[in-house]
Amino acid sequence: MHPDVQAVSADPVTLVVMGASGDLARTKIYPSLFSLYCQGLLPPDFSIYGFARSNFDASAFRASIAEKLTCRYAPAESCKDRITEFLARCFYVSGSYNASDSFLDLYAAIRAGSHESERVVFYMAIPPFLFSSVAHAIADAGLVRCGSHDTWPRVVIEKPFGRDRRTSDALSADLAQIFPESQTFRIDHYLGKEVVQNLMVIRFANAIFEPLWNSRFIEKIRISWKEDIGVGQRAGYFDNYGIIRDVIQSHLAQILALSAMERPVSDGARDVGDAKVALLQSIVPPSPEEVTIGQYSTGNVASGTAYRSEPGIAGNSRTATYARIKLRIENDRWRGVPFILSAGKGLNTRMSELRITFKPVAENIFCDQPPCLPGNELVARIQPDEALYLTITSKEPGLNLVLTQTDLNLKYQSMFKTTIPDAYDSLLLDVLQNDRSLFIRKDELDAAWDIFTPVLRDIDESGREPELYPLGWDPDAE
Ligand code: NDP
Ligand code: BG6
Repeated sequence: MHPDVQAVSADPVTLVVMGASGDLARTKIYPSLFSLYCQGLLPPDFSIYGFARSNFDASAFRASIAEKLTCRYAPAESCKDRITEFLARCFYVSGSYNASDSFLDLYAAIRAGSHESERVVFYMAIPPFLFSSVAHAIADAGLVRCGSHDTWPRVVIEKPFGRDRRTSDALSADLAQIFPESQTFRIDHYLGKEVVQNLMVIRFANAIFEPLWNSRFIEKIRISWKEDIGVGQRAGYFDNYGIIRDVIQSHLAQILALSAMERPVSDGARDVGDAKVALLQSIVPPSPEEVTIGQYSTGNVASGTAYRSEPGIAGNSRTATYARIKLRIENDRWRGVPFILSAGKGLNTRMSELRITFKPVAENIFCDQPPCLPGNELVARIQPDEALYLTITSKEPGLNLVLTQTDLNLKYQSMFKTTIPDAYDSLLLDVLQNDRSLFIRKDELDAAWDIFTPVLRDIDESGREPELYPLGWDPDAE
């Protein structure tokens, strides 16, 4: 969270990317490692071993990575050279995830390159059903070396961490046999997004917000997430999980925790984690009536594919692609304030935001019958076009007294004339620096599953049908 070039250790590091041929590896992990490399934030002696089943030779693999590398942090004139230098550190081993010989081949390749070290990061960029078996295969091949460190080797696991509290516990217990908690980094990449990282700073480094941050002044809080595309290539995964597990239990619950938690004792990982856990444990699991679920269909749109007609999705799938959940927090600060979390694919736009609606002025001298004006709103727009803005009522210039709603607007692009890092740049650097503040602790994961497991079970067991909505629907227009 606090990258400090001076603090980057010069000790050699080996990164092993499981599922190196996949979407996440190619579009996020390698480009972010390249960004860190260009900024001098990788140690001088680093190497990256990709592992997957696809049968690439070294040059084909490097070419497939190179397609997605961008020169965000390298001057255009030297970019080609930087890419060539970076690719020279990238190796590839093709093998099967369930063949021990393949992992021995990986070990042999690392040794042959003289990159054997205790300082290894294993990145699990593979489908979740492979996490456990691959972790065991890594250990069986001798790749996990017990050394003098209690924080090396490190494993990075992508969400989803299980399907509910029970499966999450089982996965954690199994992985803990190989990688203790101190070596496990559970990624929720929304925590690496710039505006999400700013939430704590806005709340706790400005005197004006915290006194108002409670049920006396706040009417409601909405956390909204929209995508204007369908499930794309991830149909098999998505149909097994649905939008509540995919986005709400993870990304939106984390944004909620950061925006509603009490002030942590410090900004250190343990204190922030404690504050988030306490908040998540105060949330009342929603009843089925507090949850709306939907699924995109073609509706009146001529182009586009209904969810049930997407390749890989059963024609009678009941998986929710949209959900809206009303949550209540049972503590002194928030009792009575609704927190409305909504997420959907196949909607009208791509955006995610936190919107805090304050109560209107109780005795407004500018209105005959108050409340005549809406309350202020503070919006943290996470994407696209990162911004923080506050709507306020002010007087329109002129001889008459006319009140109008305006924005105090902090637009990142115009205010901070700098490249906004990708979430994975920040998170991968944190893994290397052993900064755990943006990663999910086991007790945090438990608390998040405890909120959503009962309603997910109800939806699964009752066979509840999602309401169909047309592609391009705007839930906020209703
Ligand atoms: P992919 O579906 O692209 O899978 C990654 C690689 O795993 C593939 O290239 C493939 O490599 C191998 N693989 C895929 N399916 C199977 C299978 N059925 N059996 C064996 N191997 C298989 O996944 P992503 O890269 O999209 O995601 C990786 C992880 O990251 C997942 O846990 C996902 O939930 C998570 N994630 C992904 C995000 C994204 O933006 N893509 C965002 C957030 C989380 P090969 O066939 O060469 O072995
Ligand atoms: C992933 C979800 O975690 O986040 C996907 O599994 C979603 O369904 C993706 O598309 C969105 O990430 P971003 O960073 O593009 O908003």
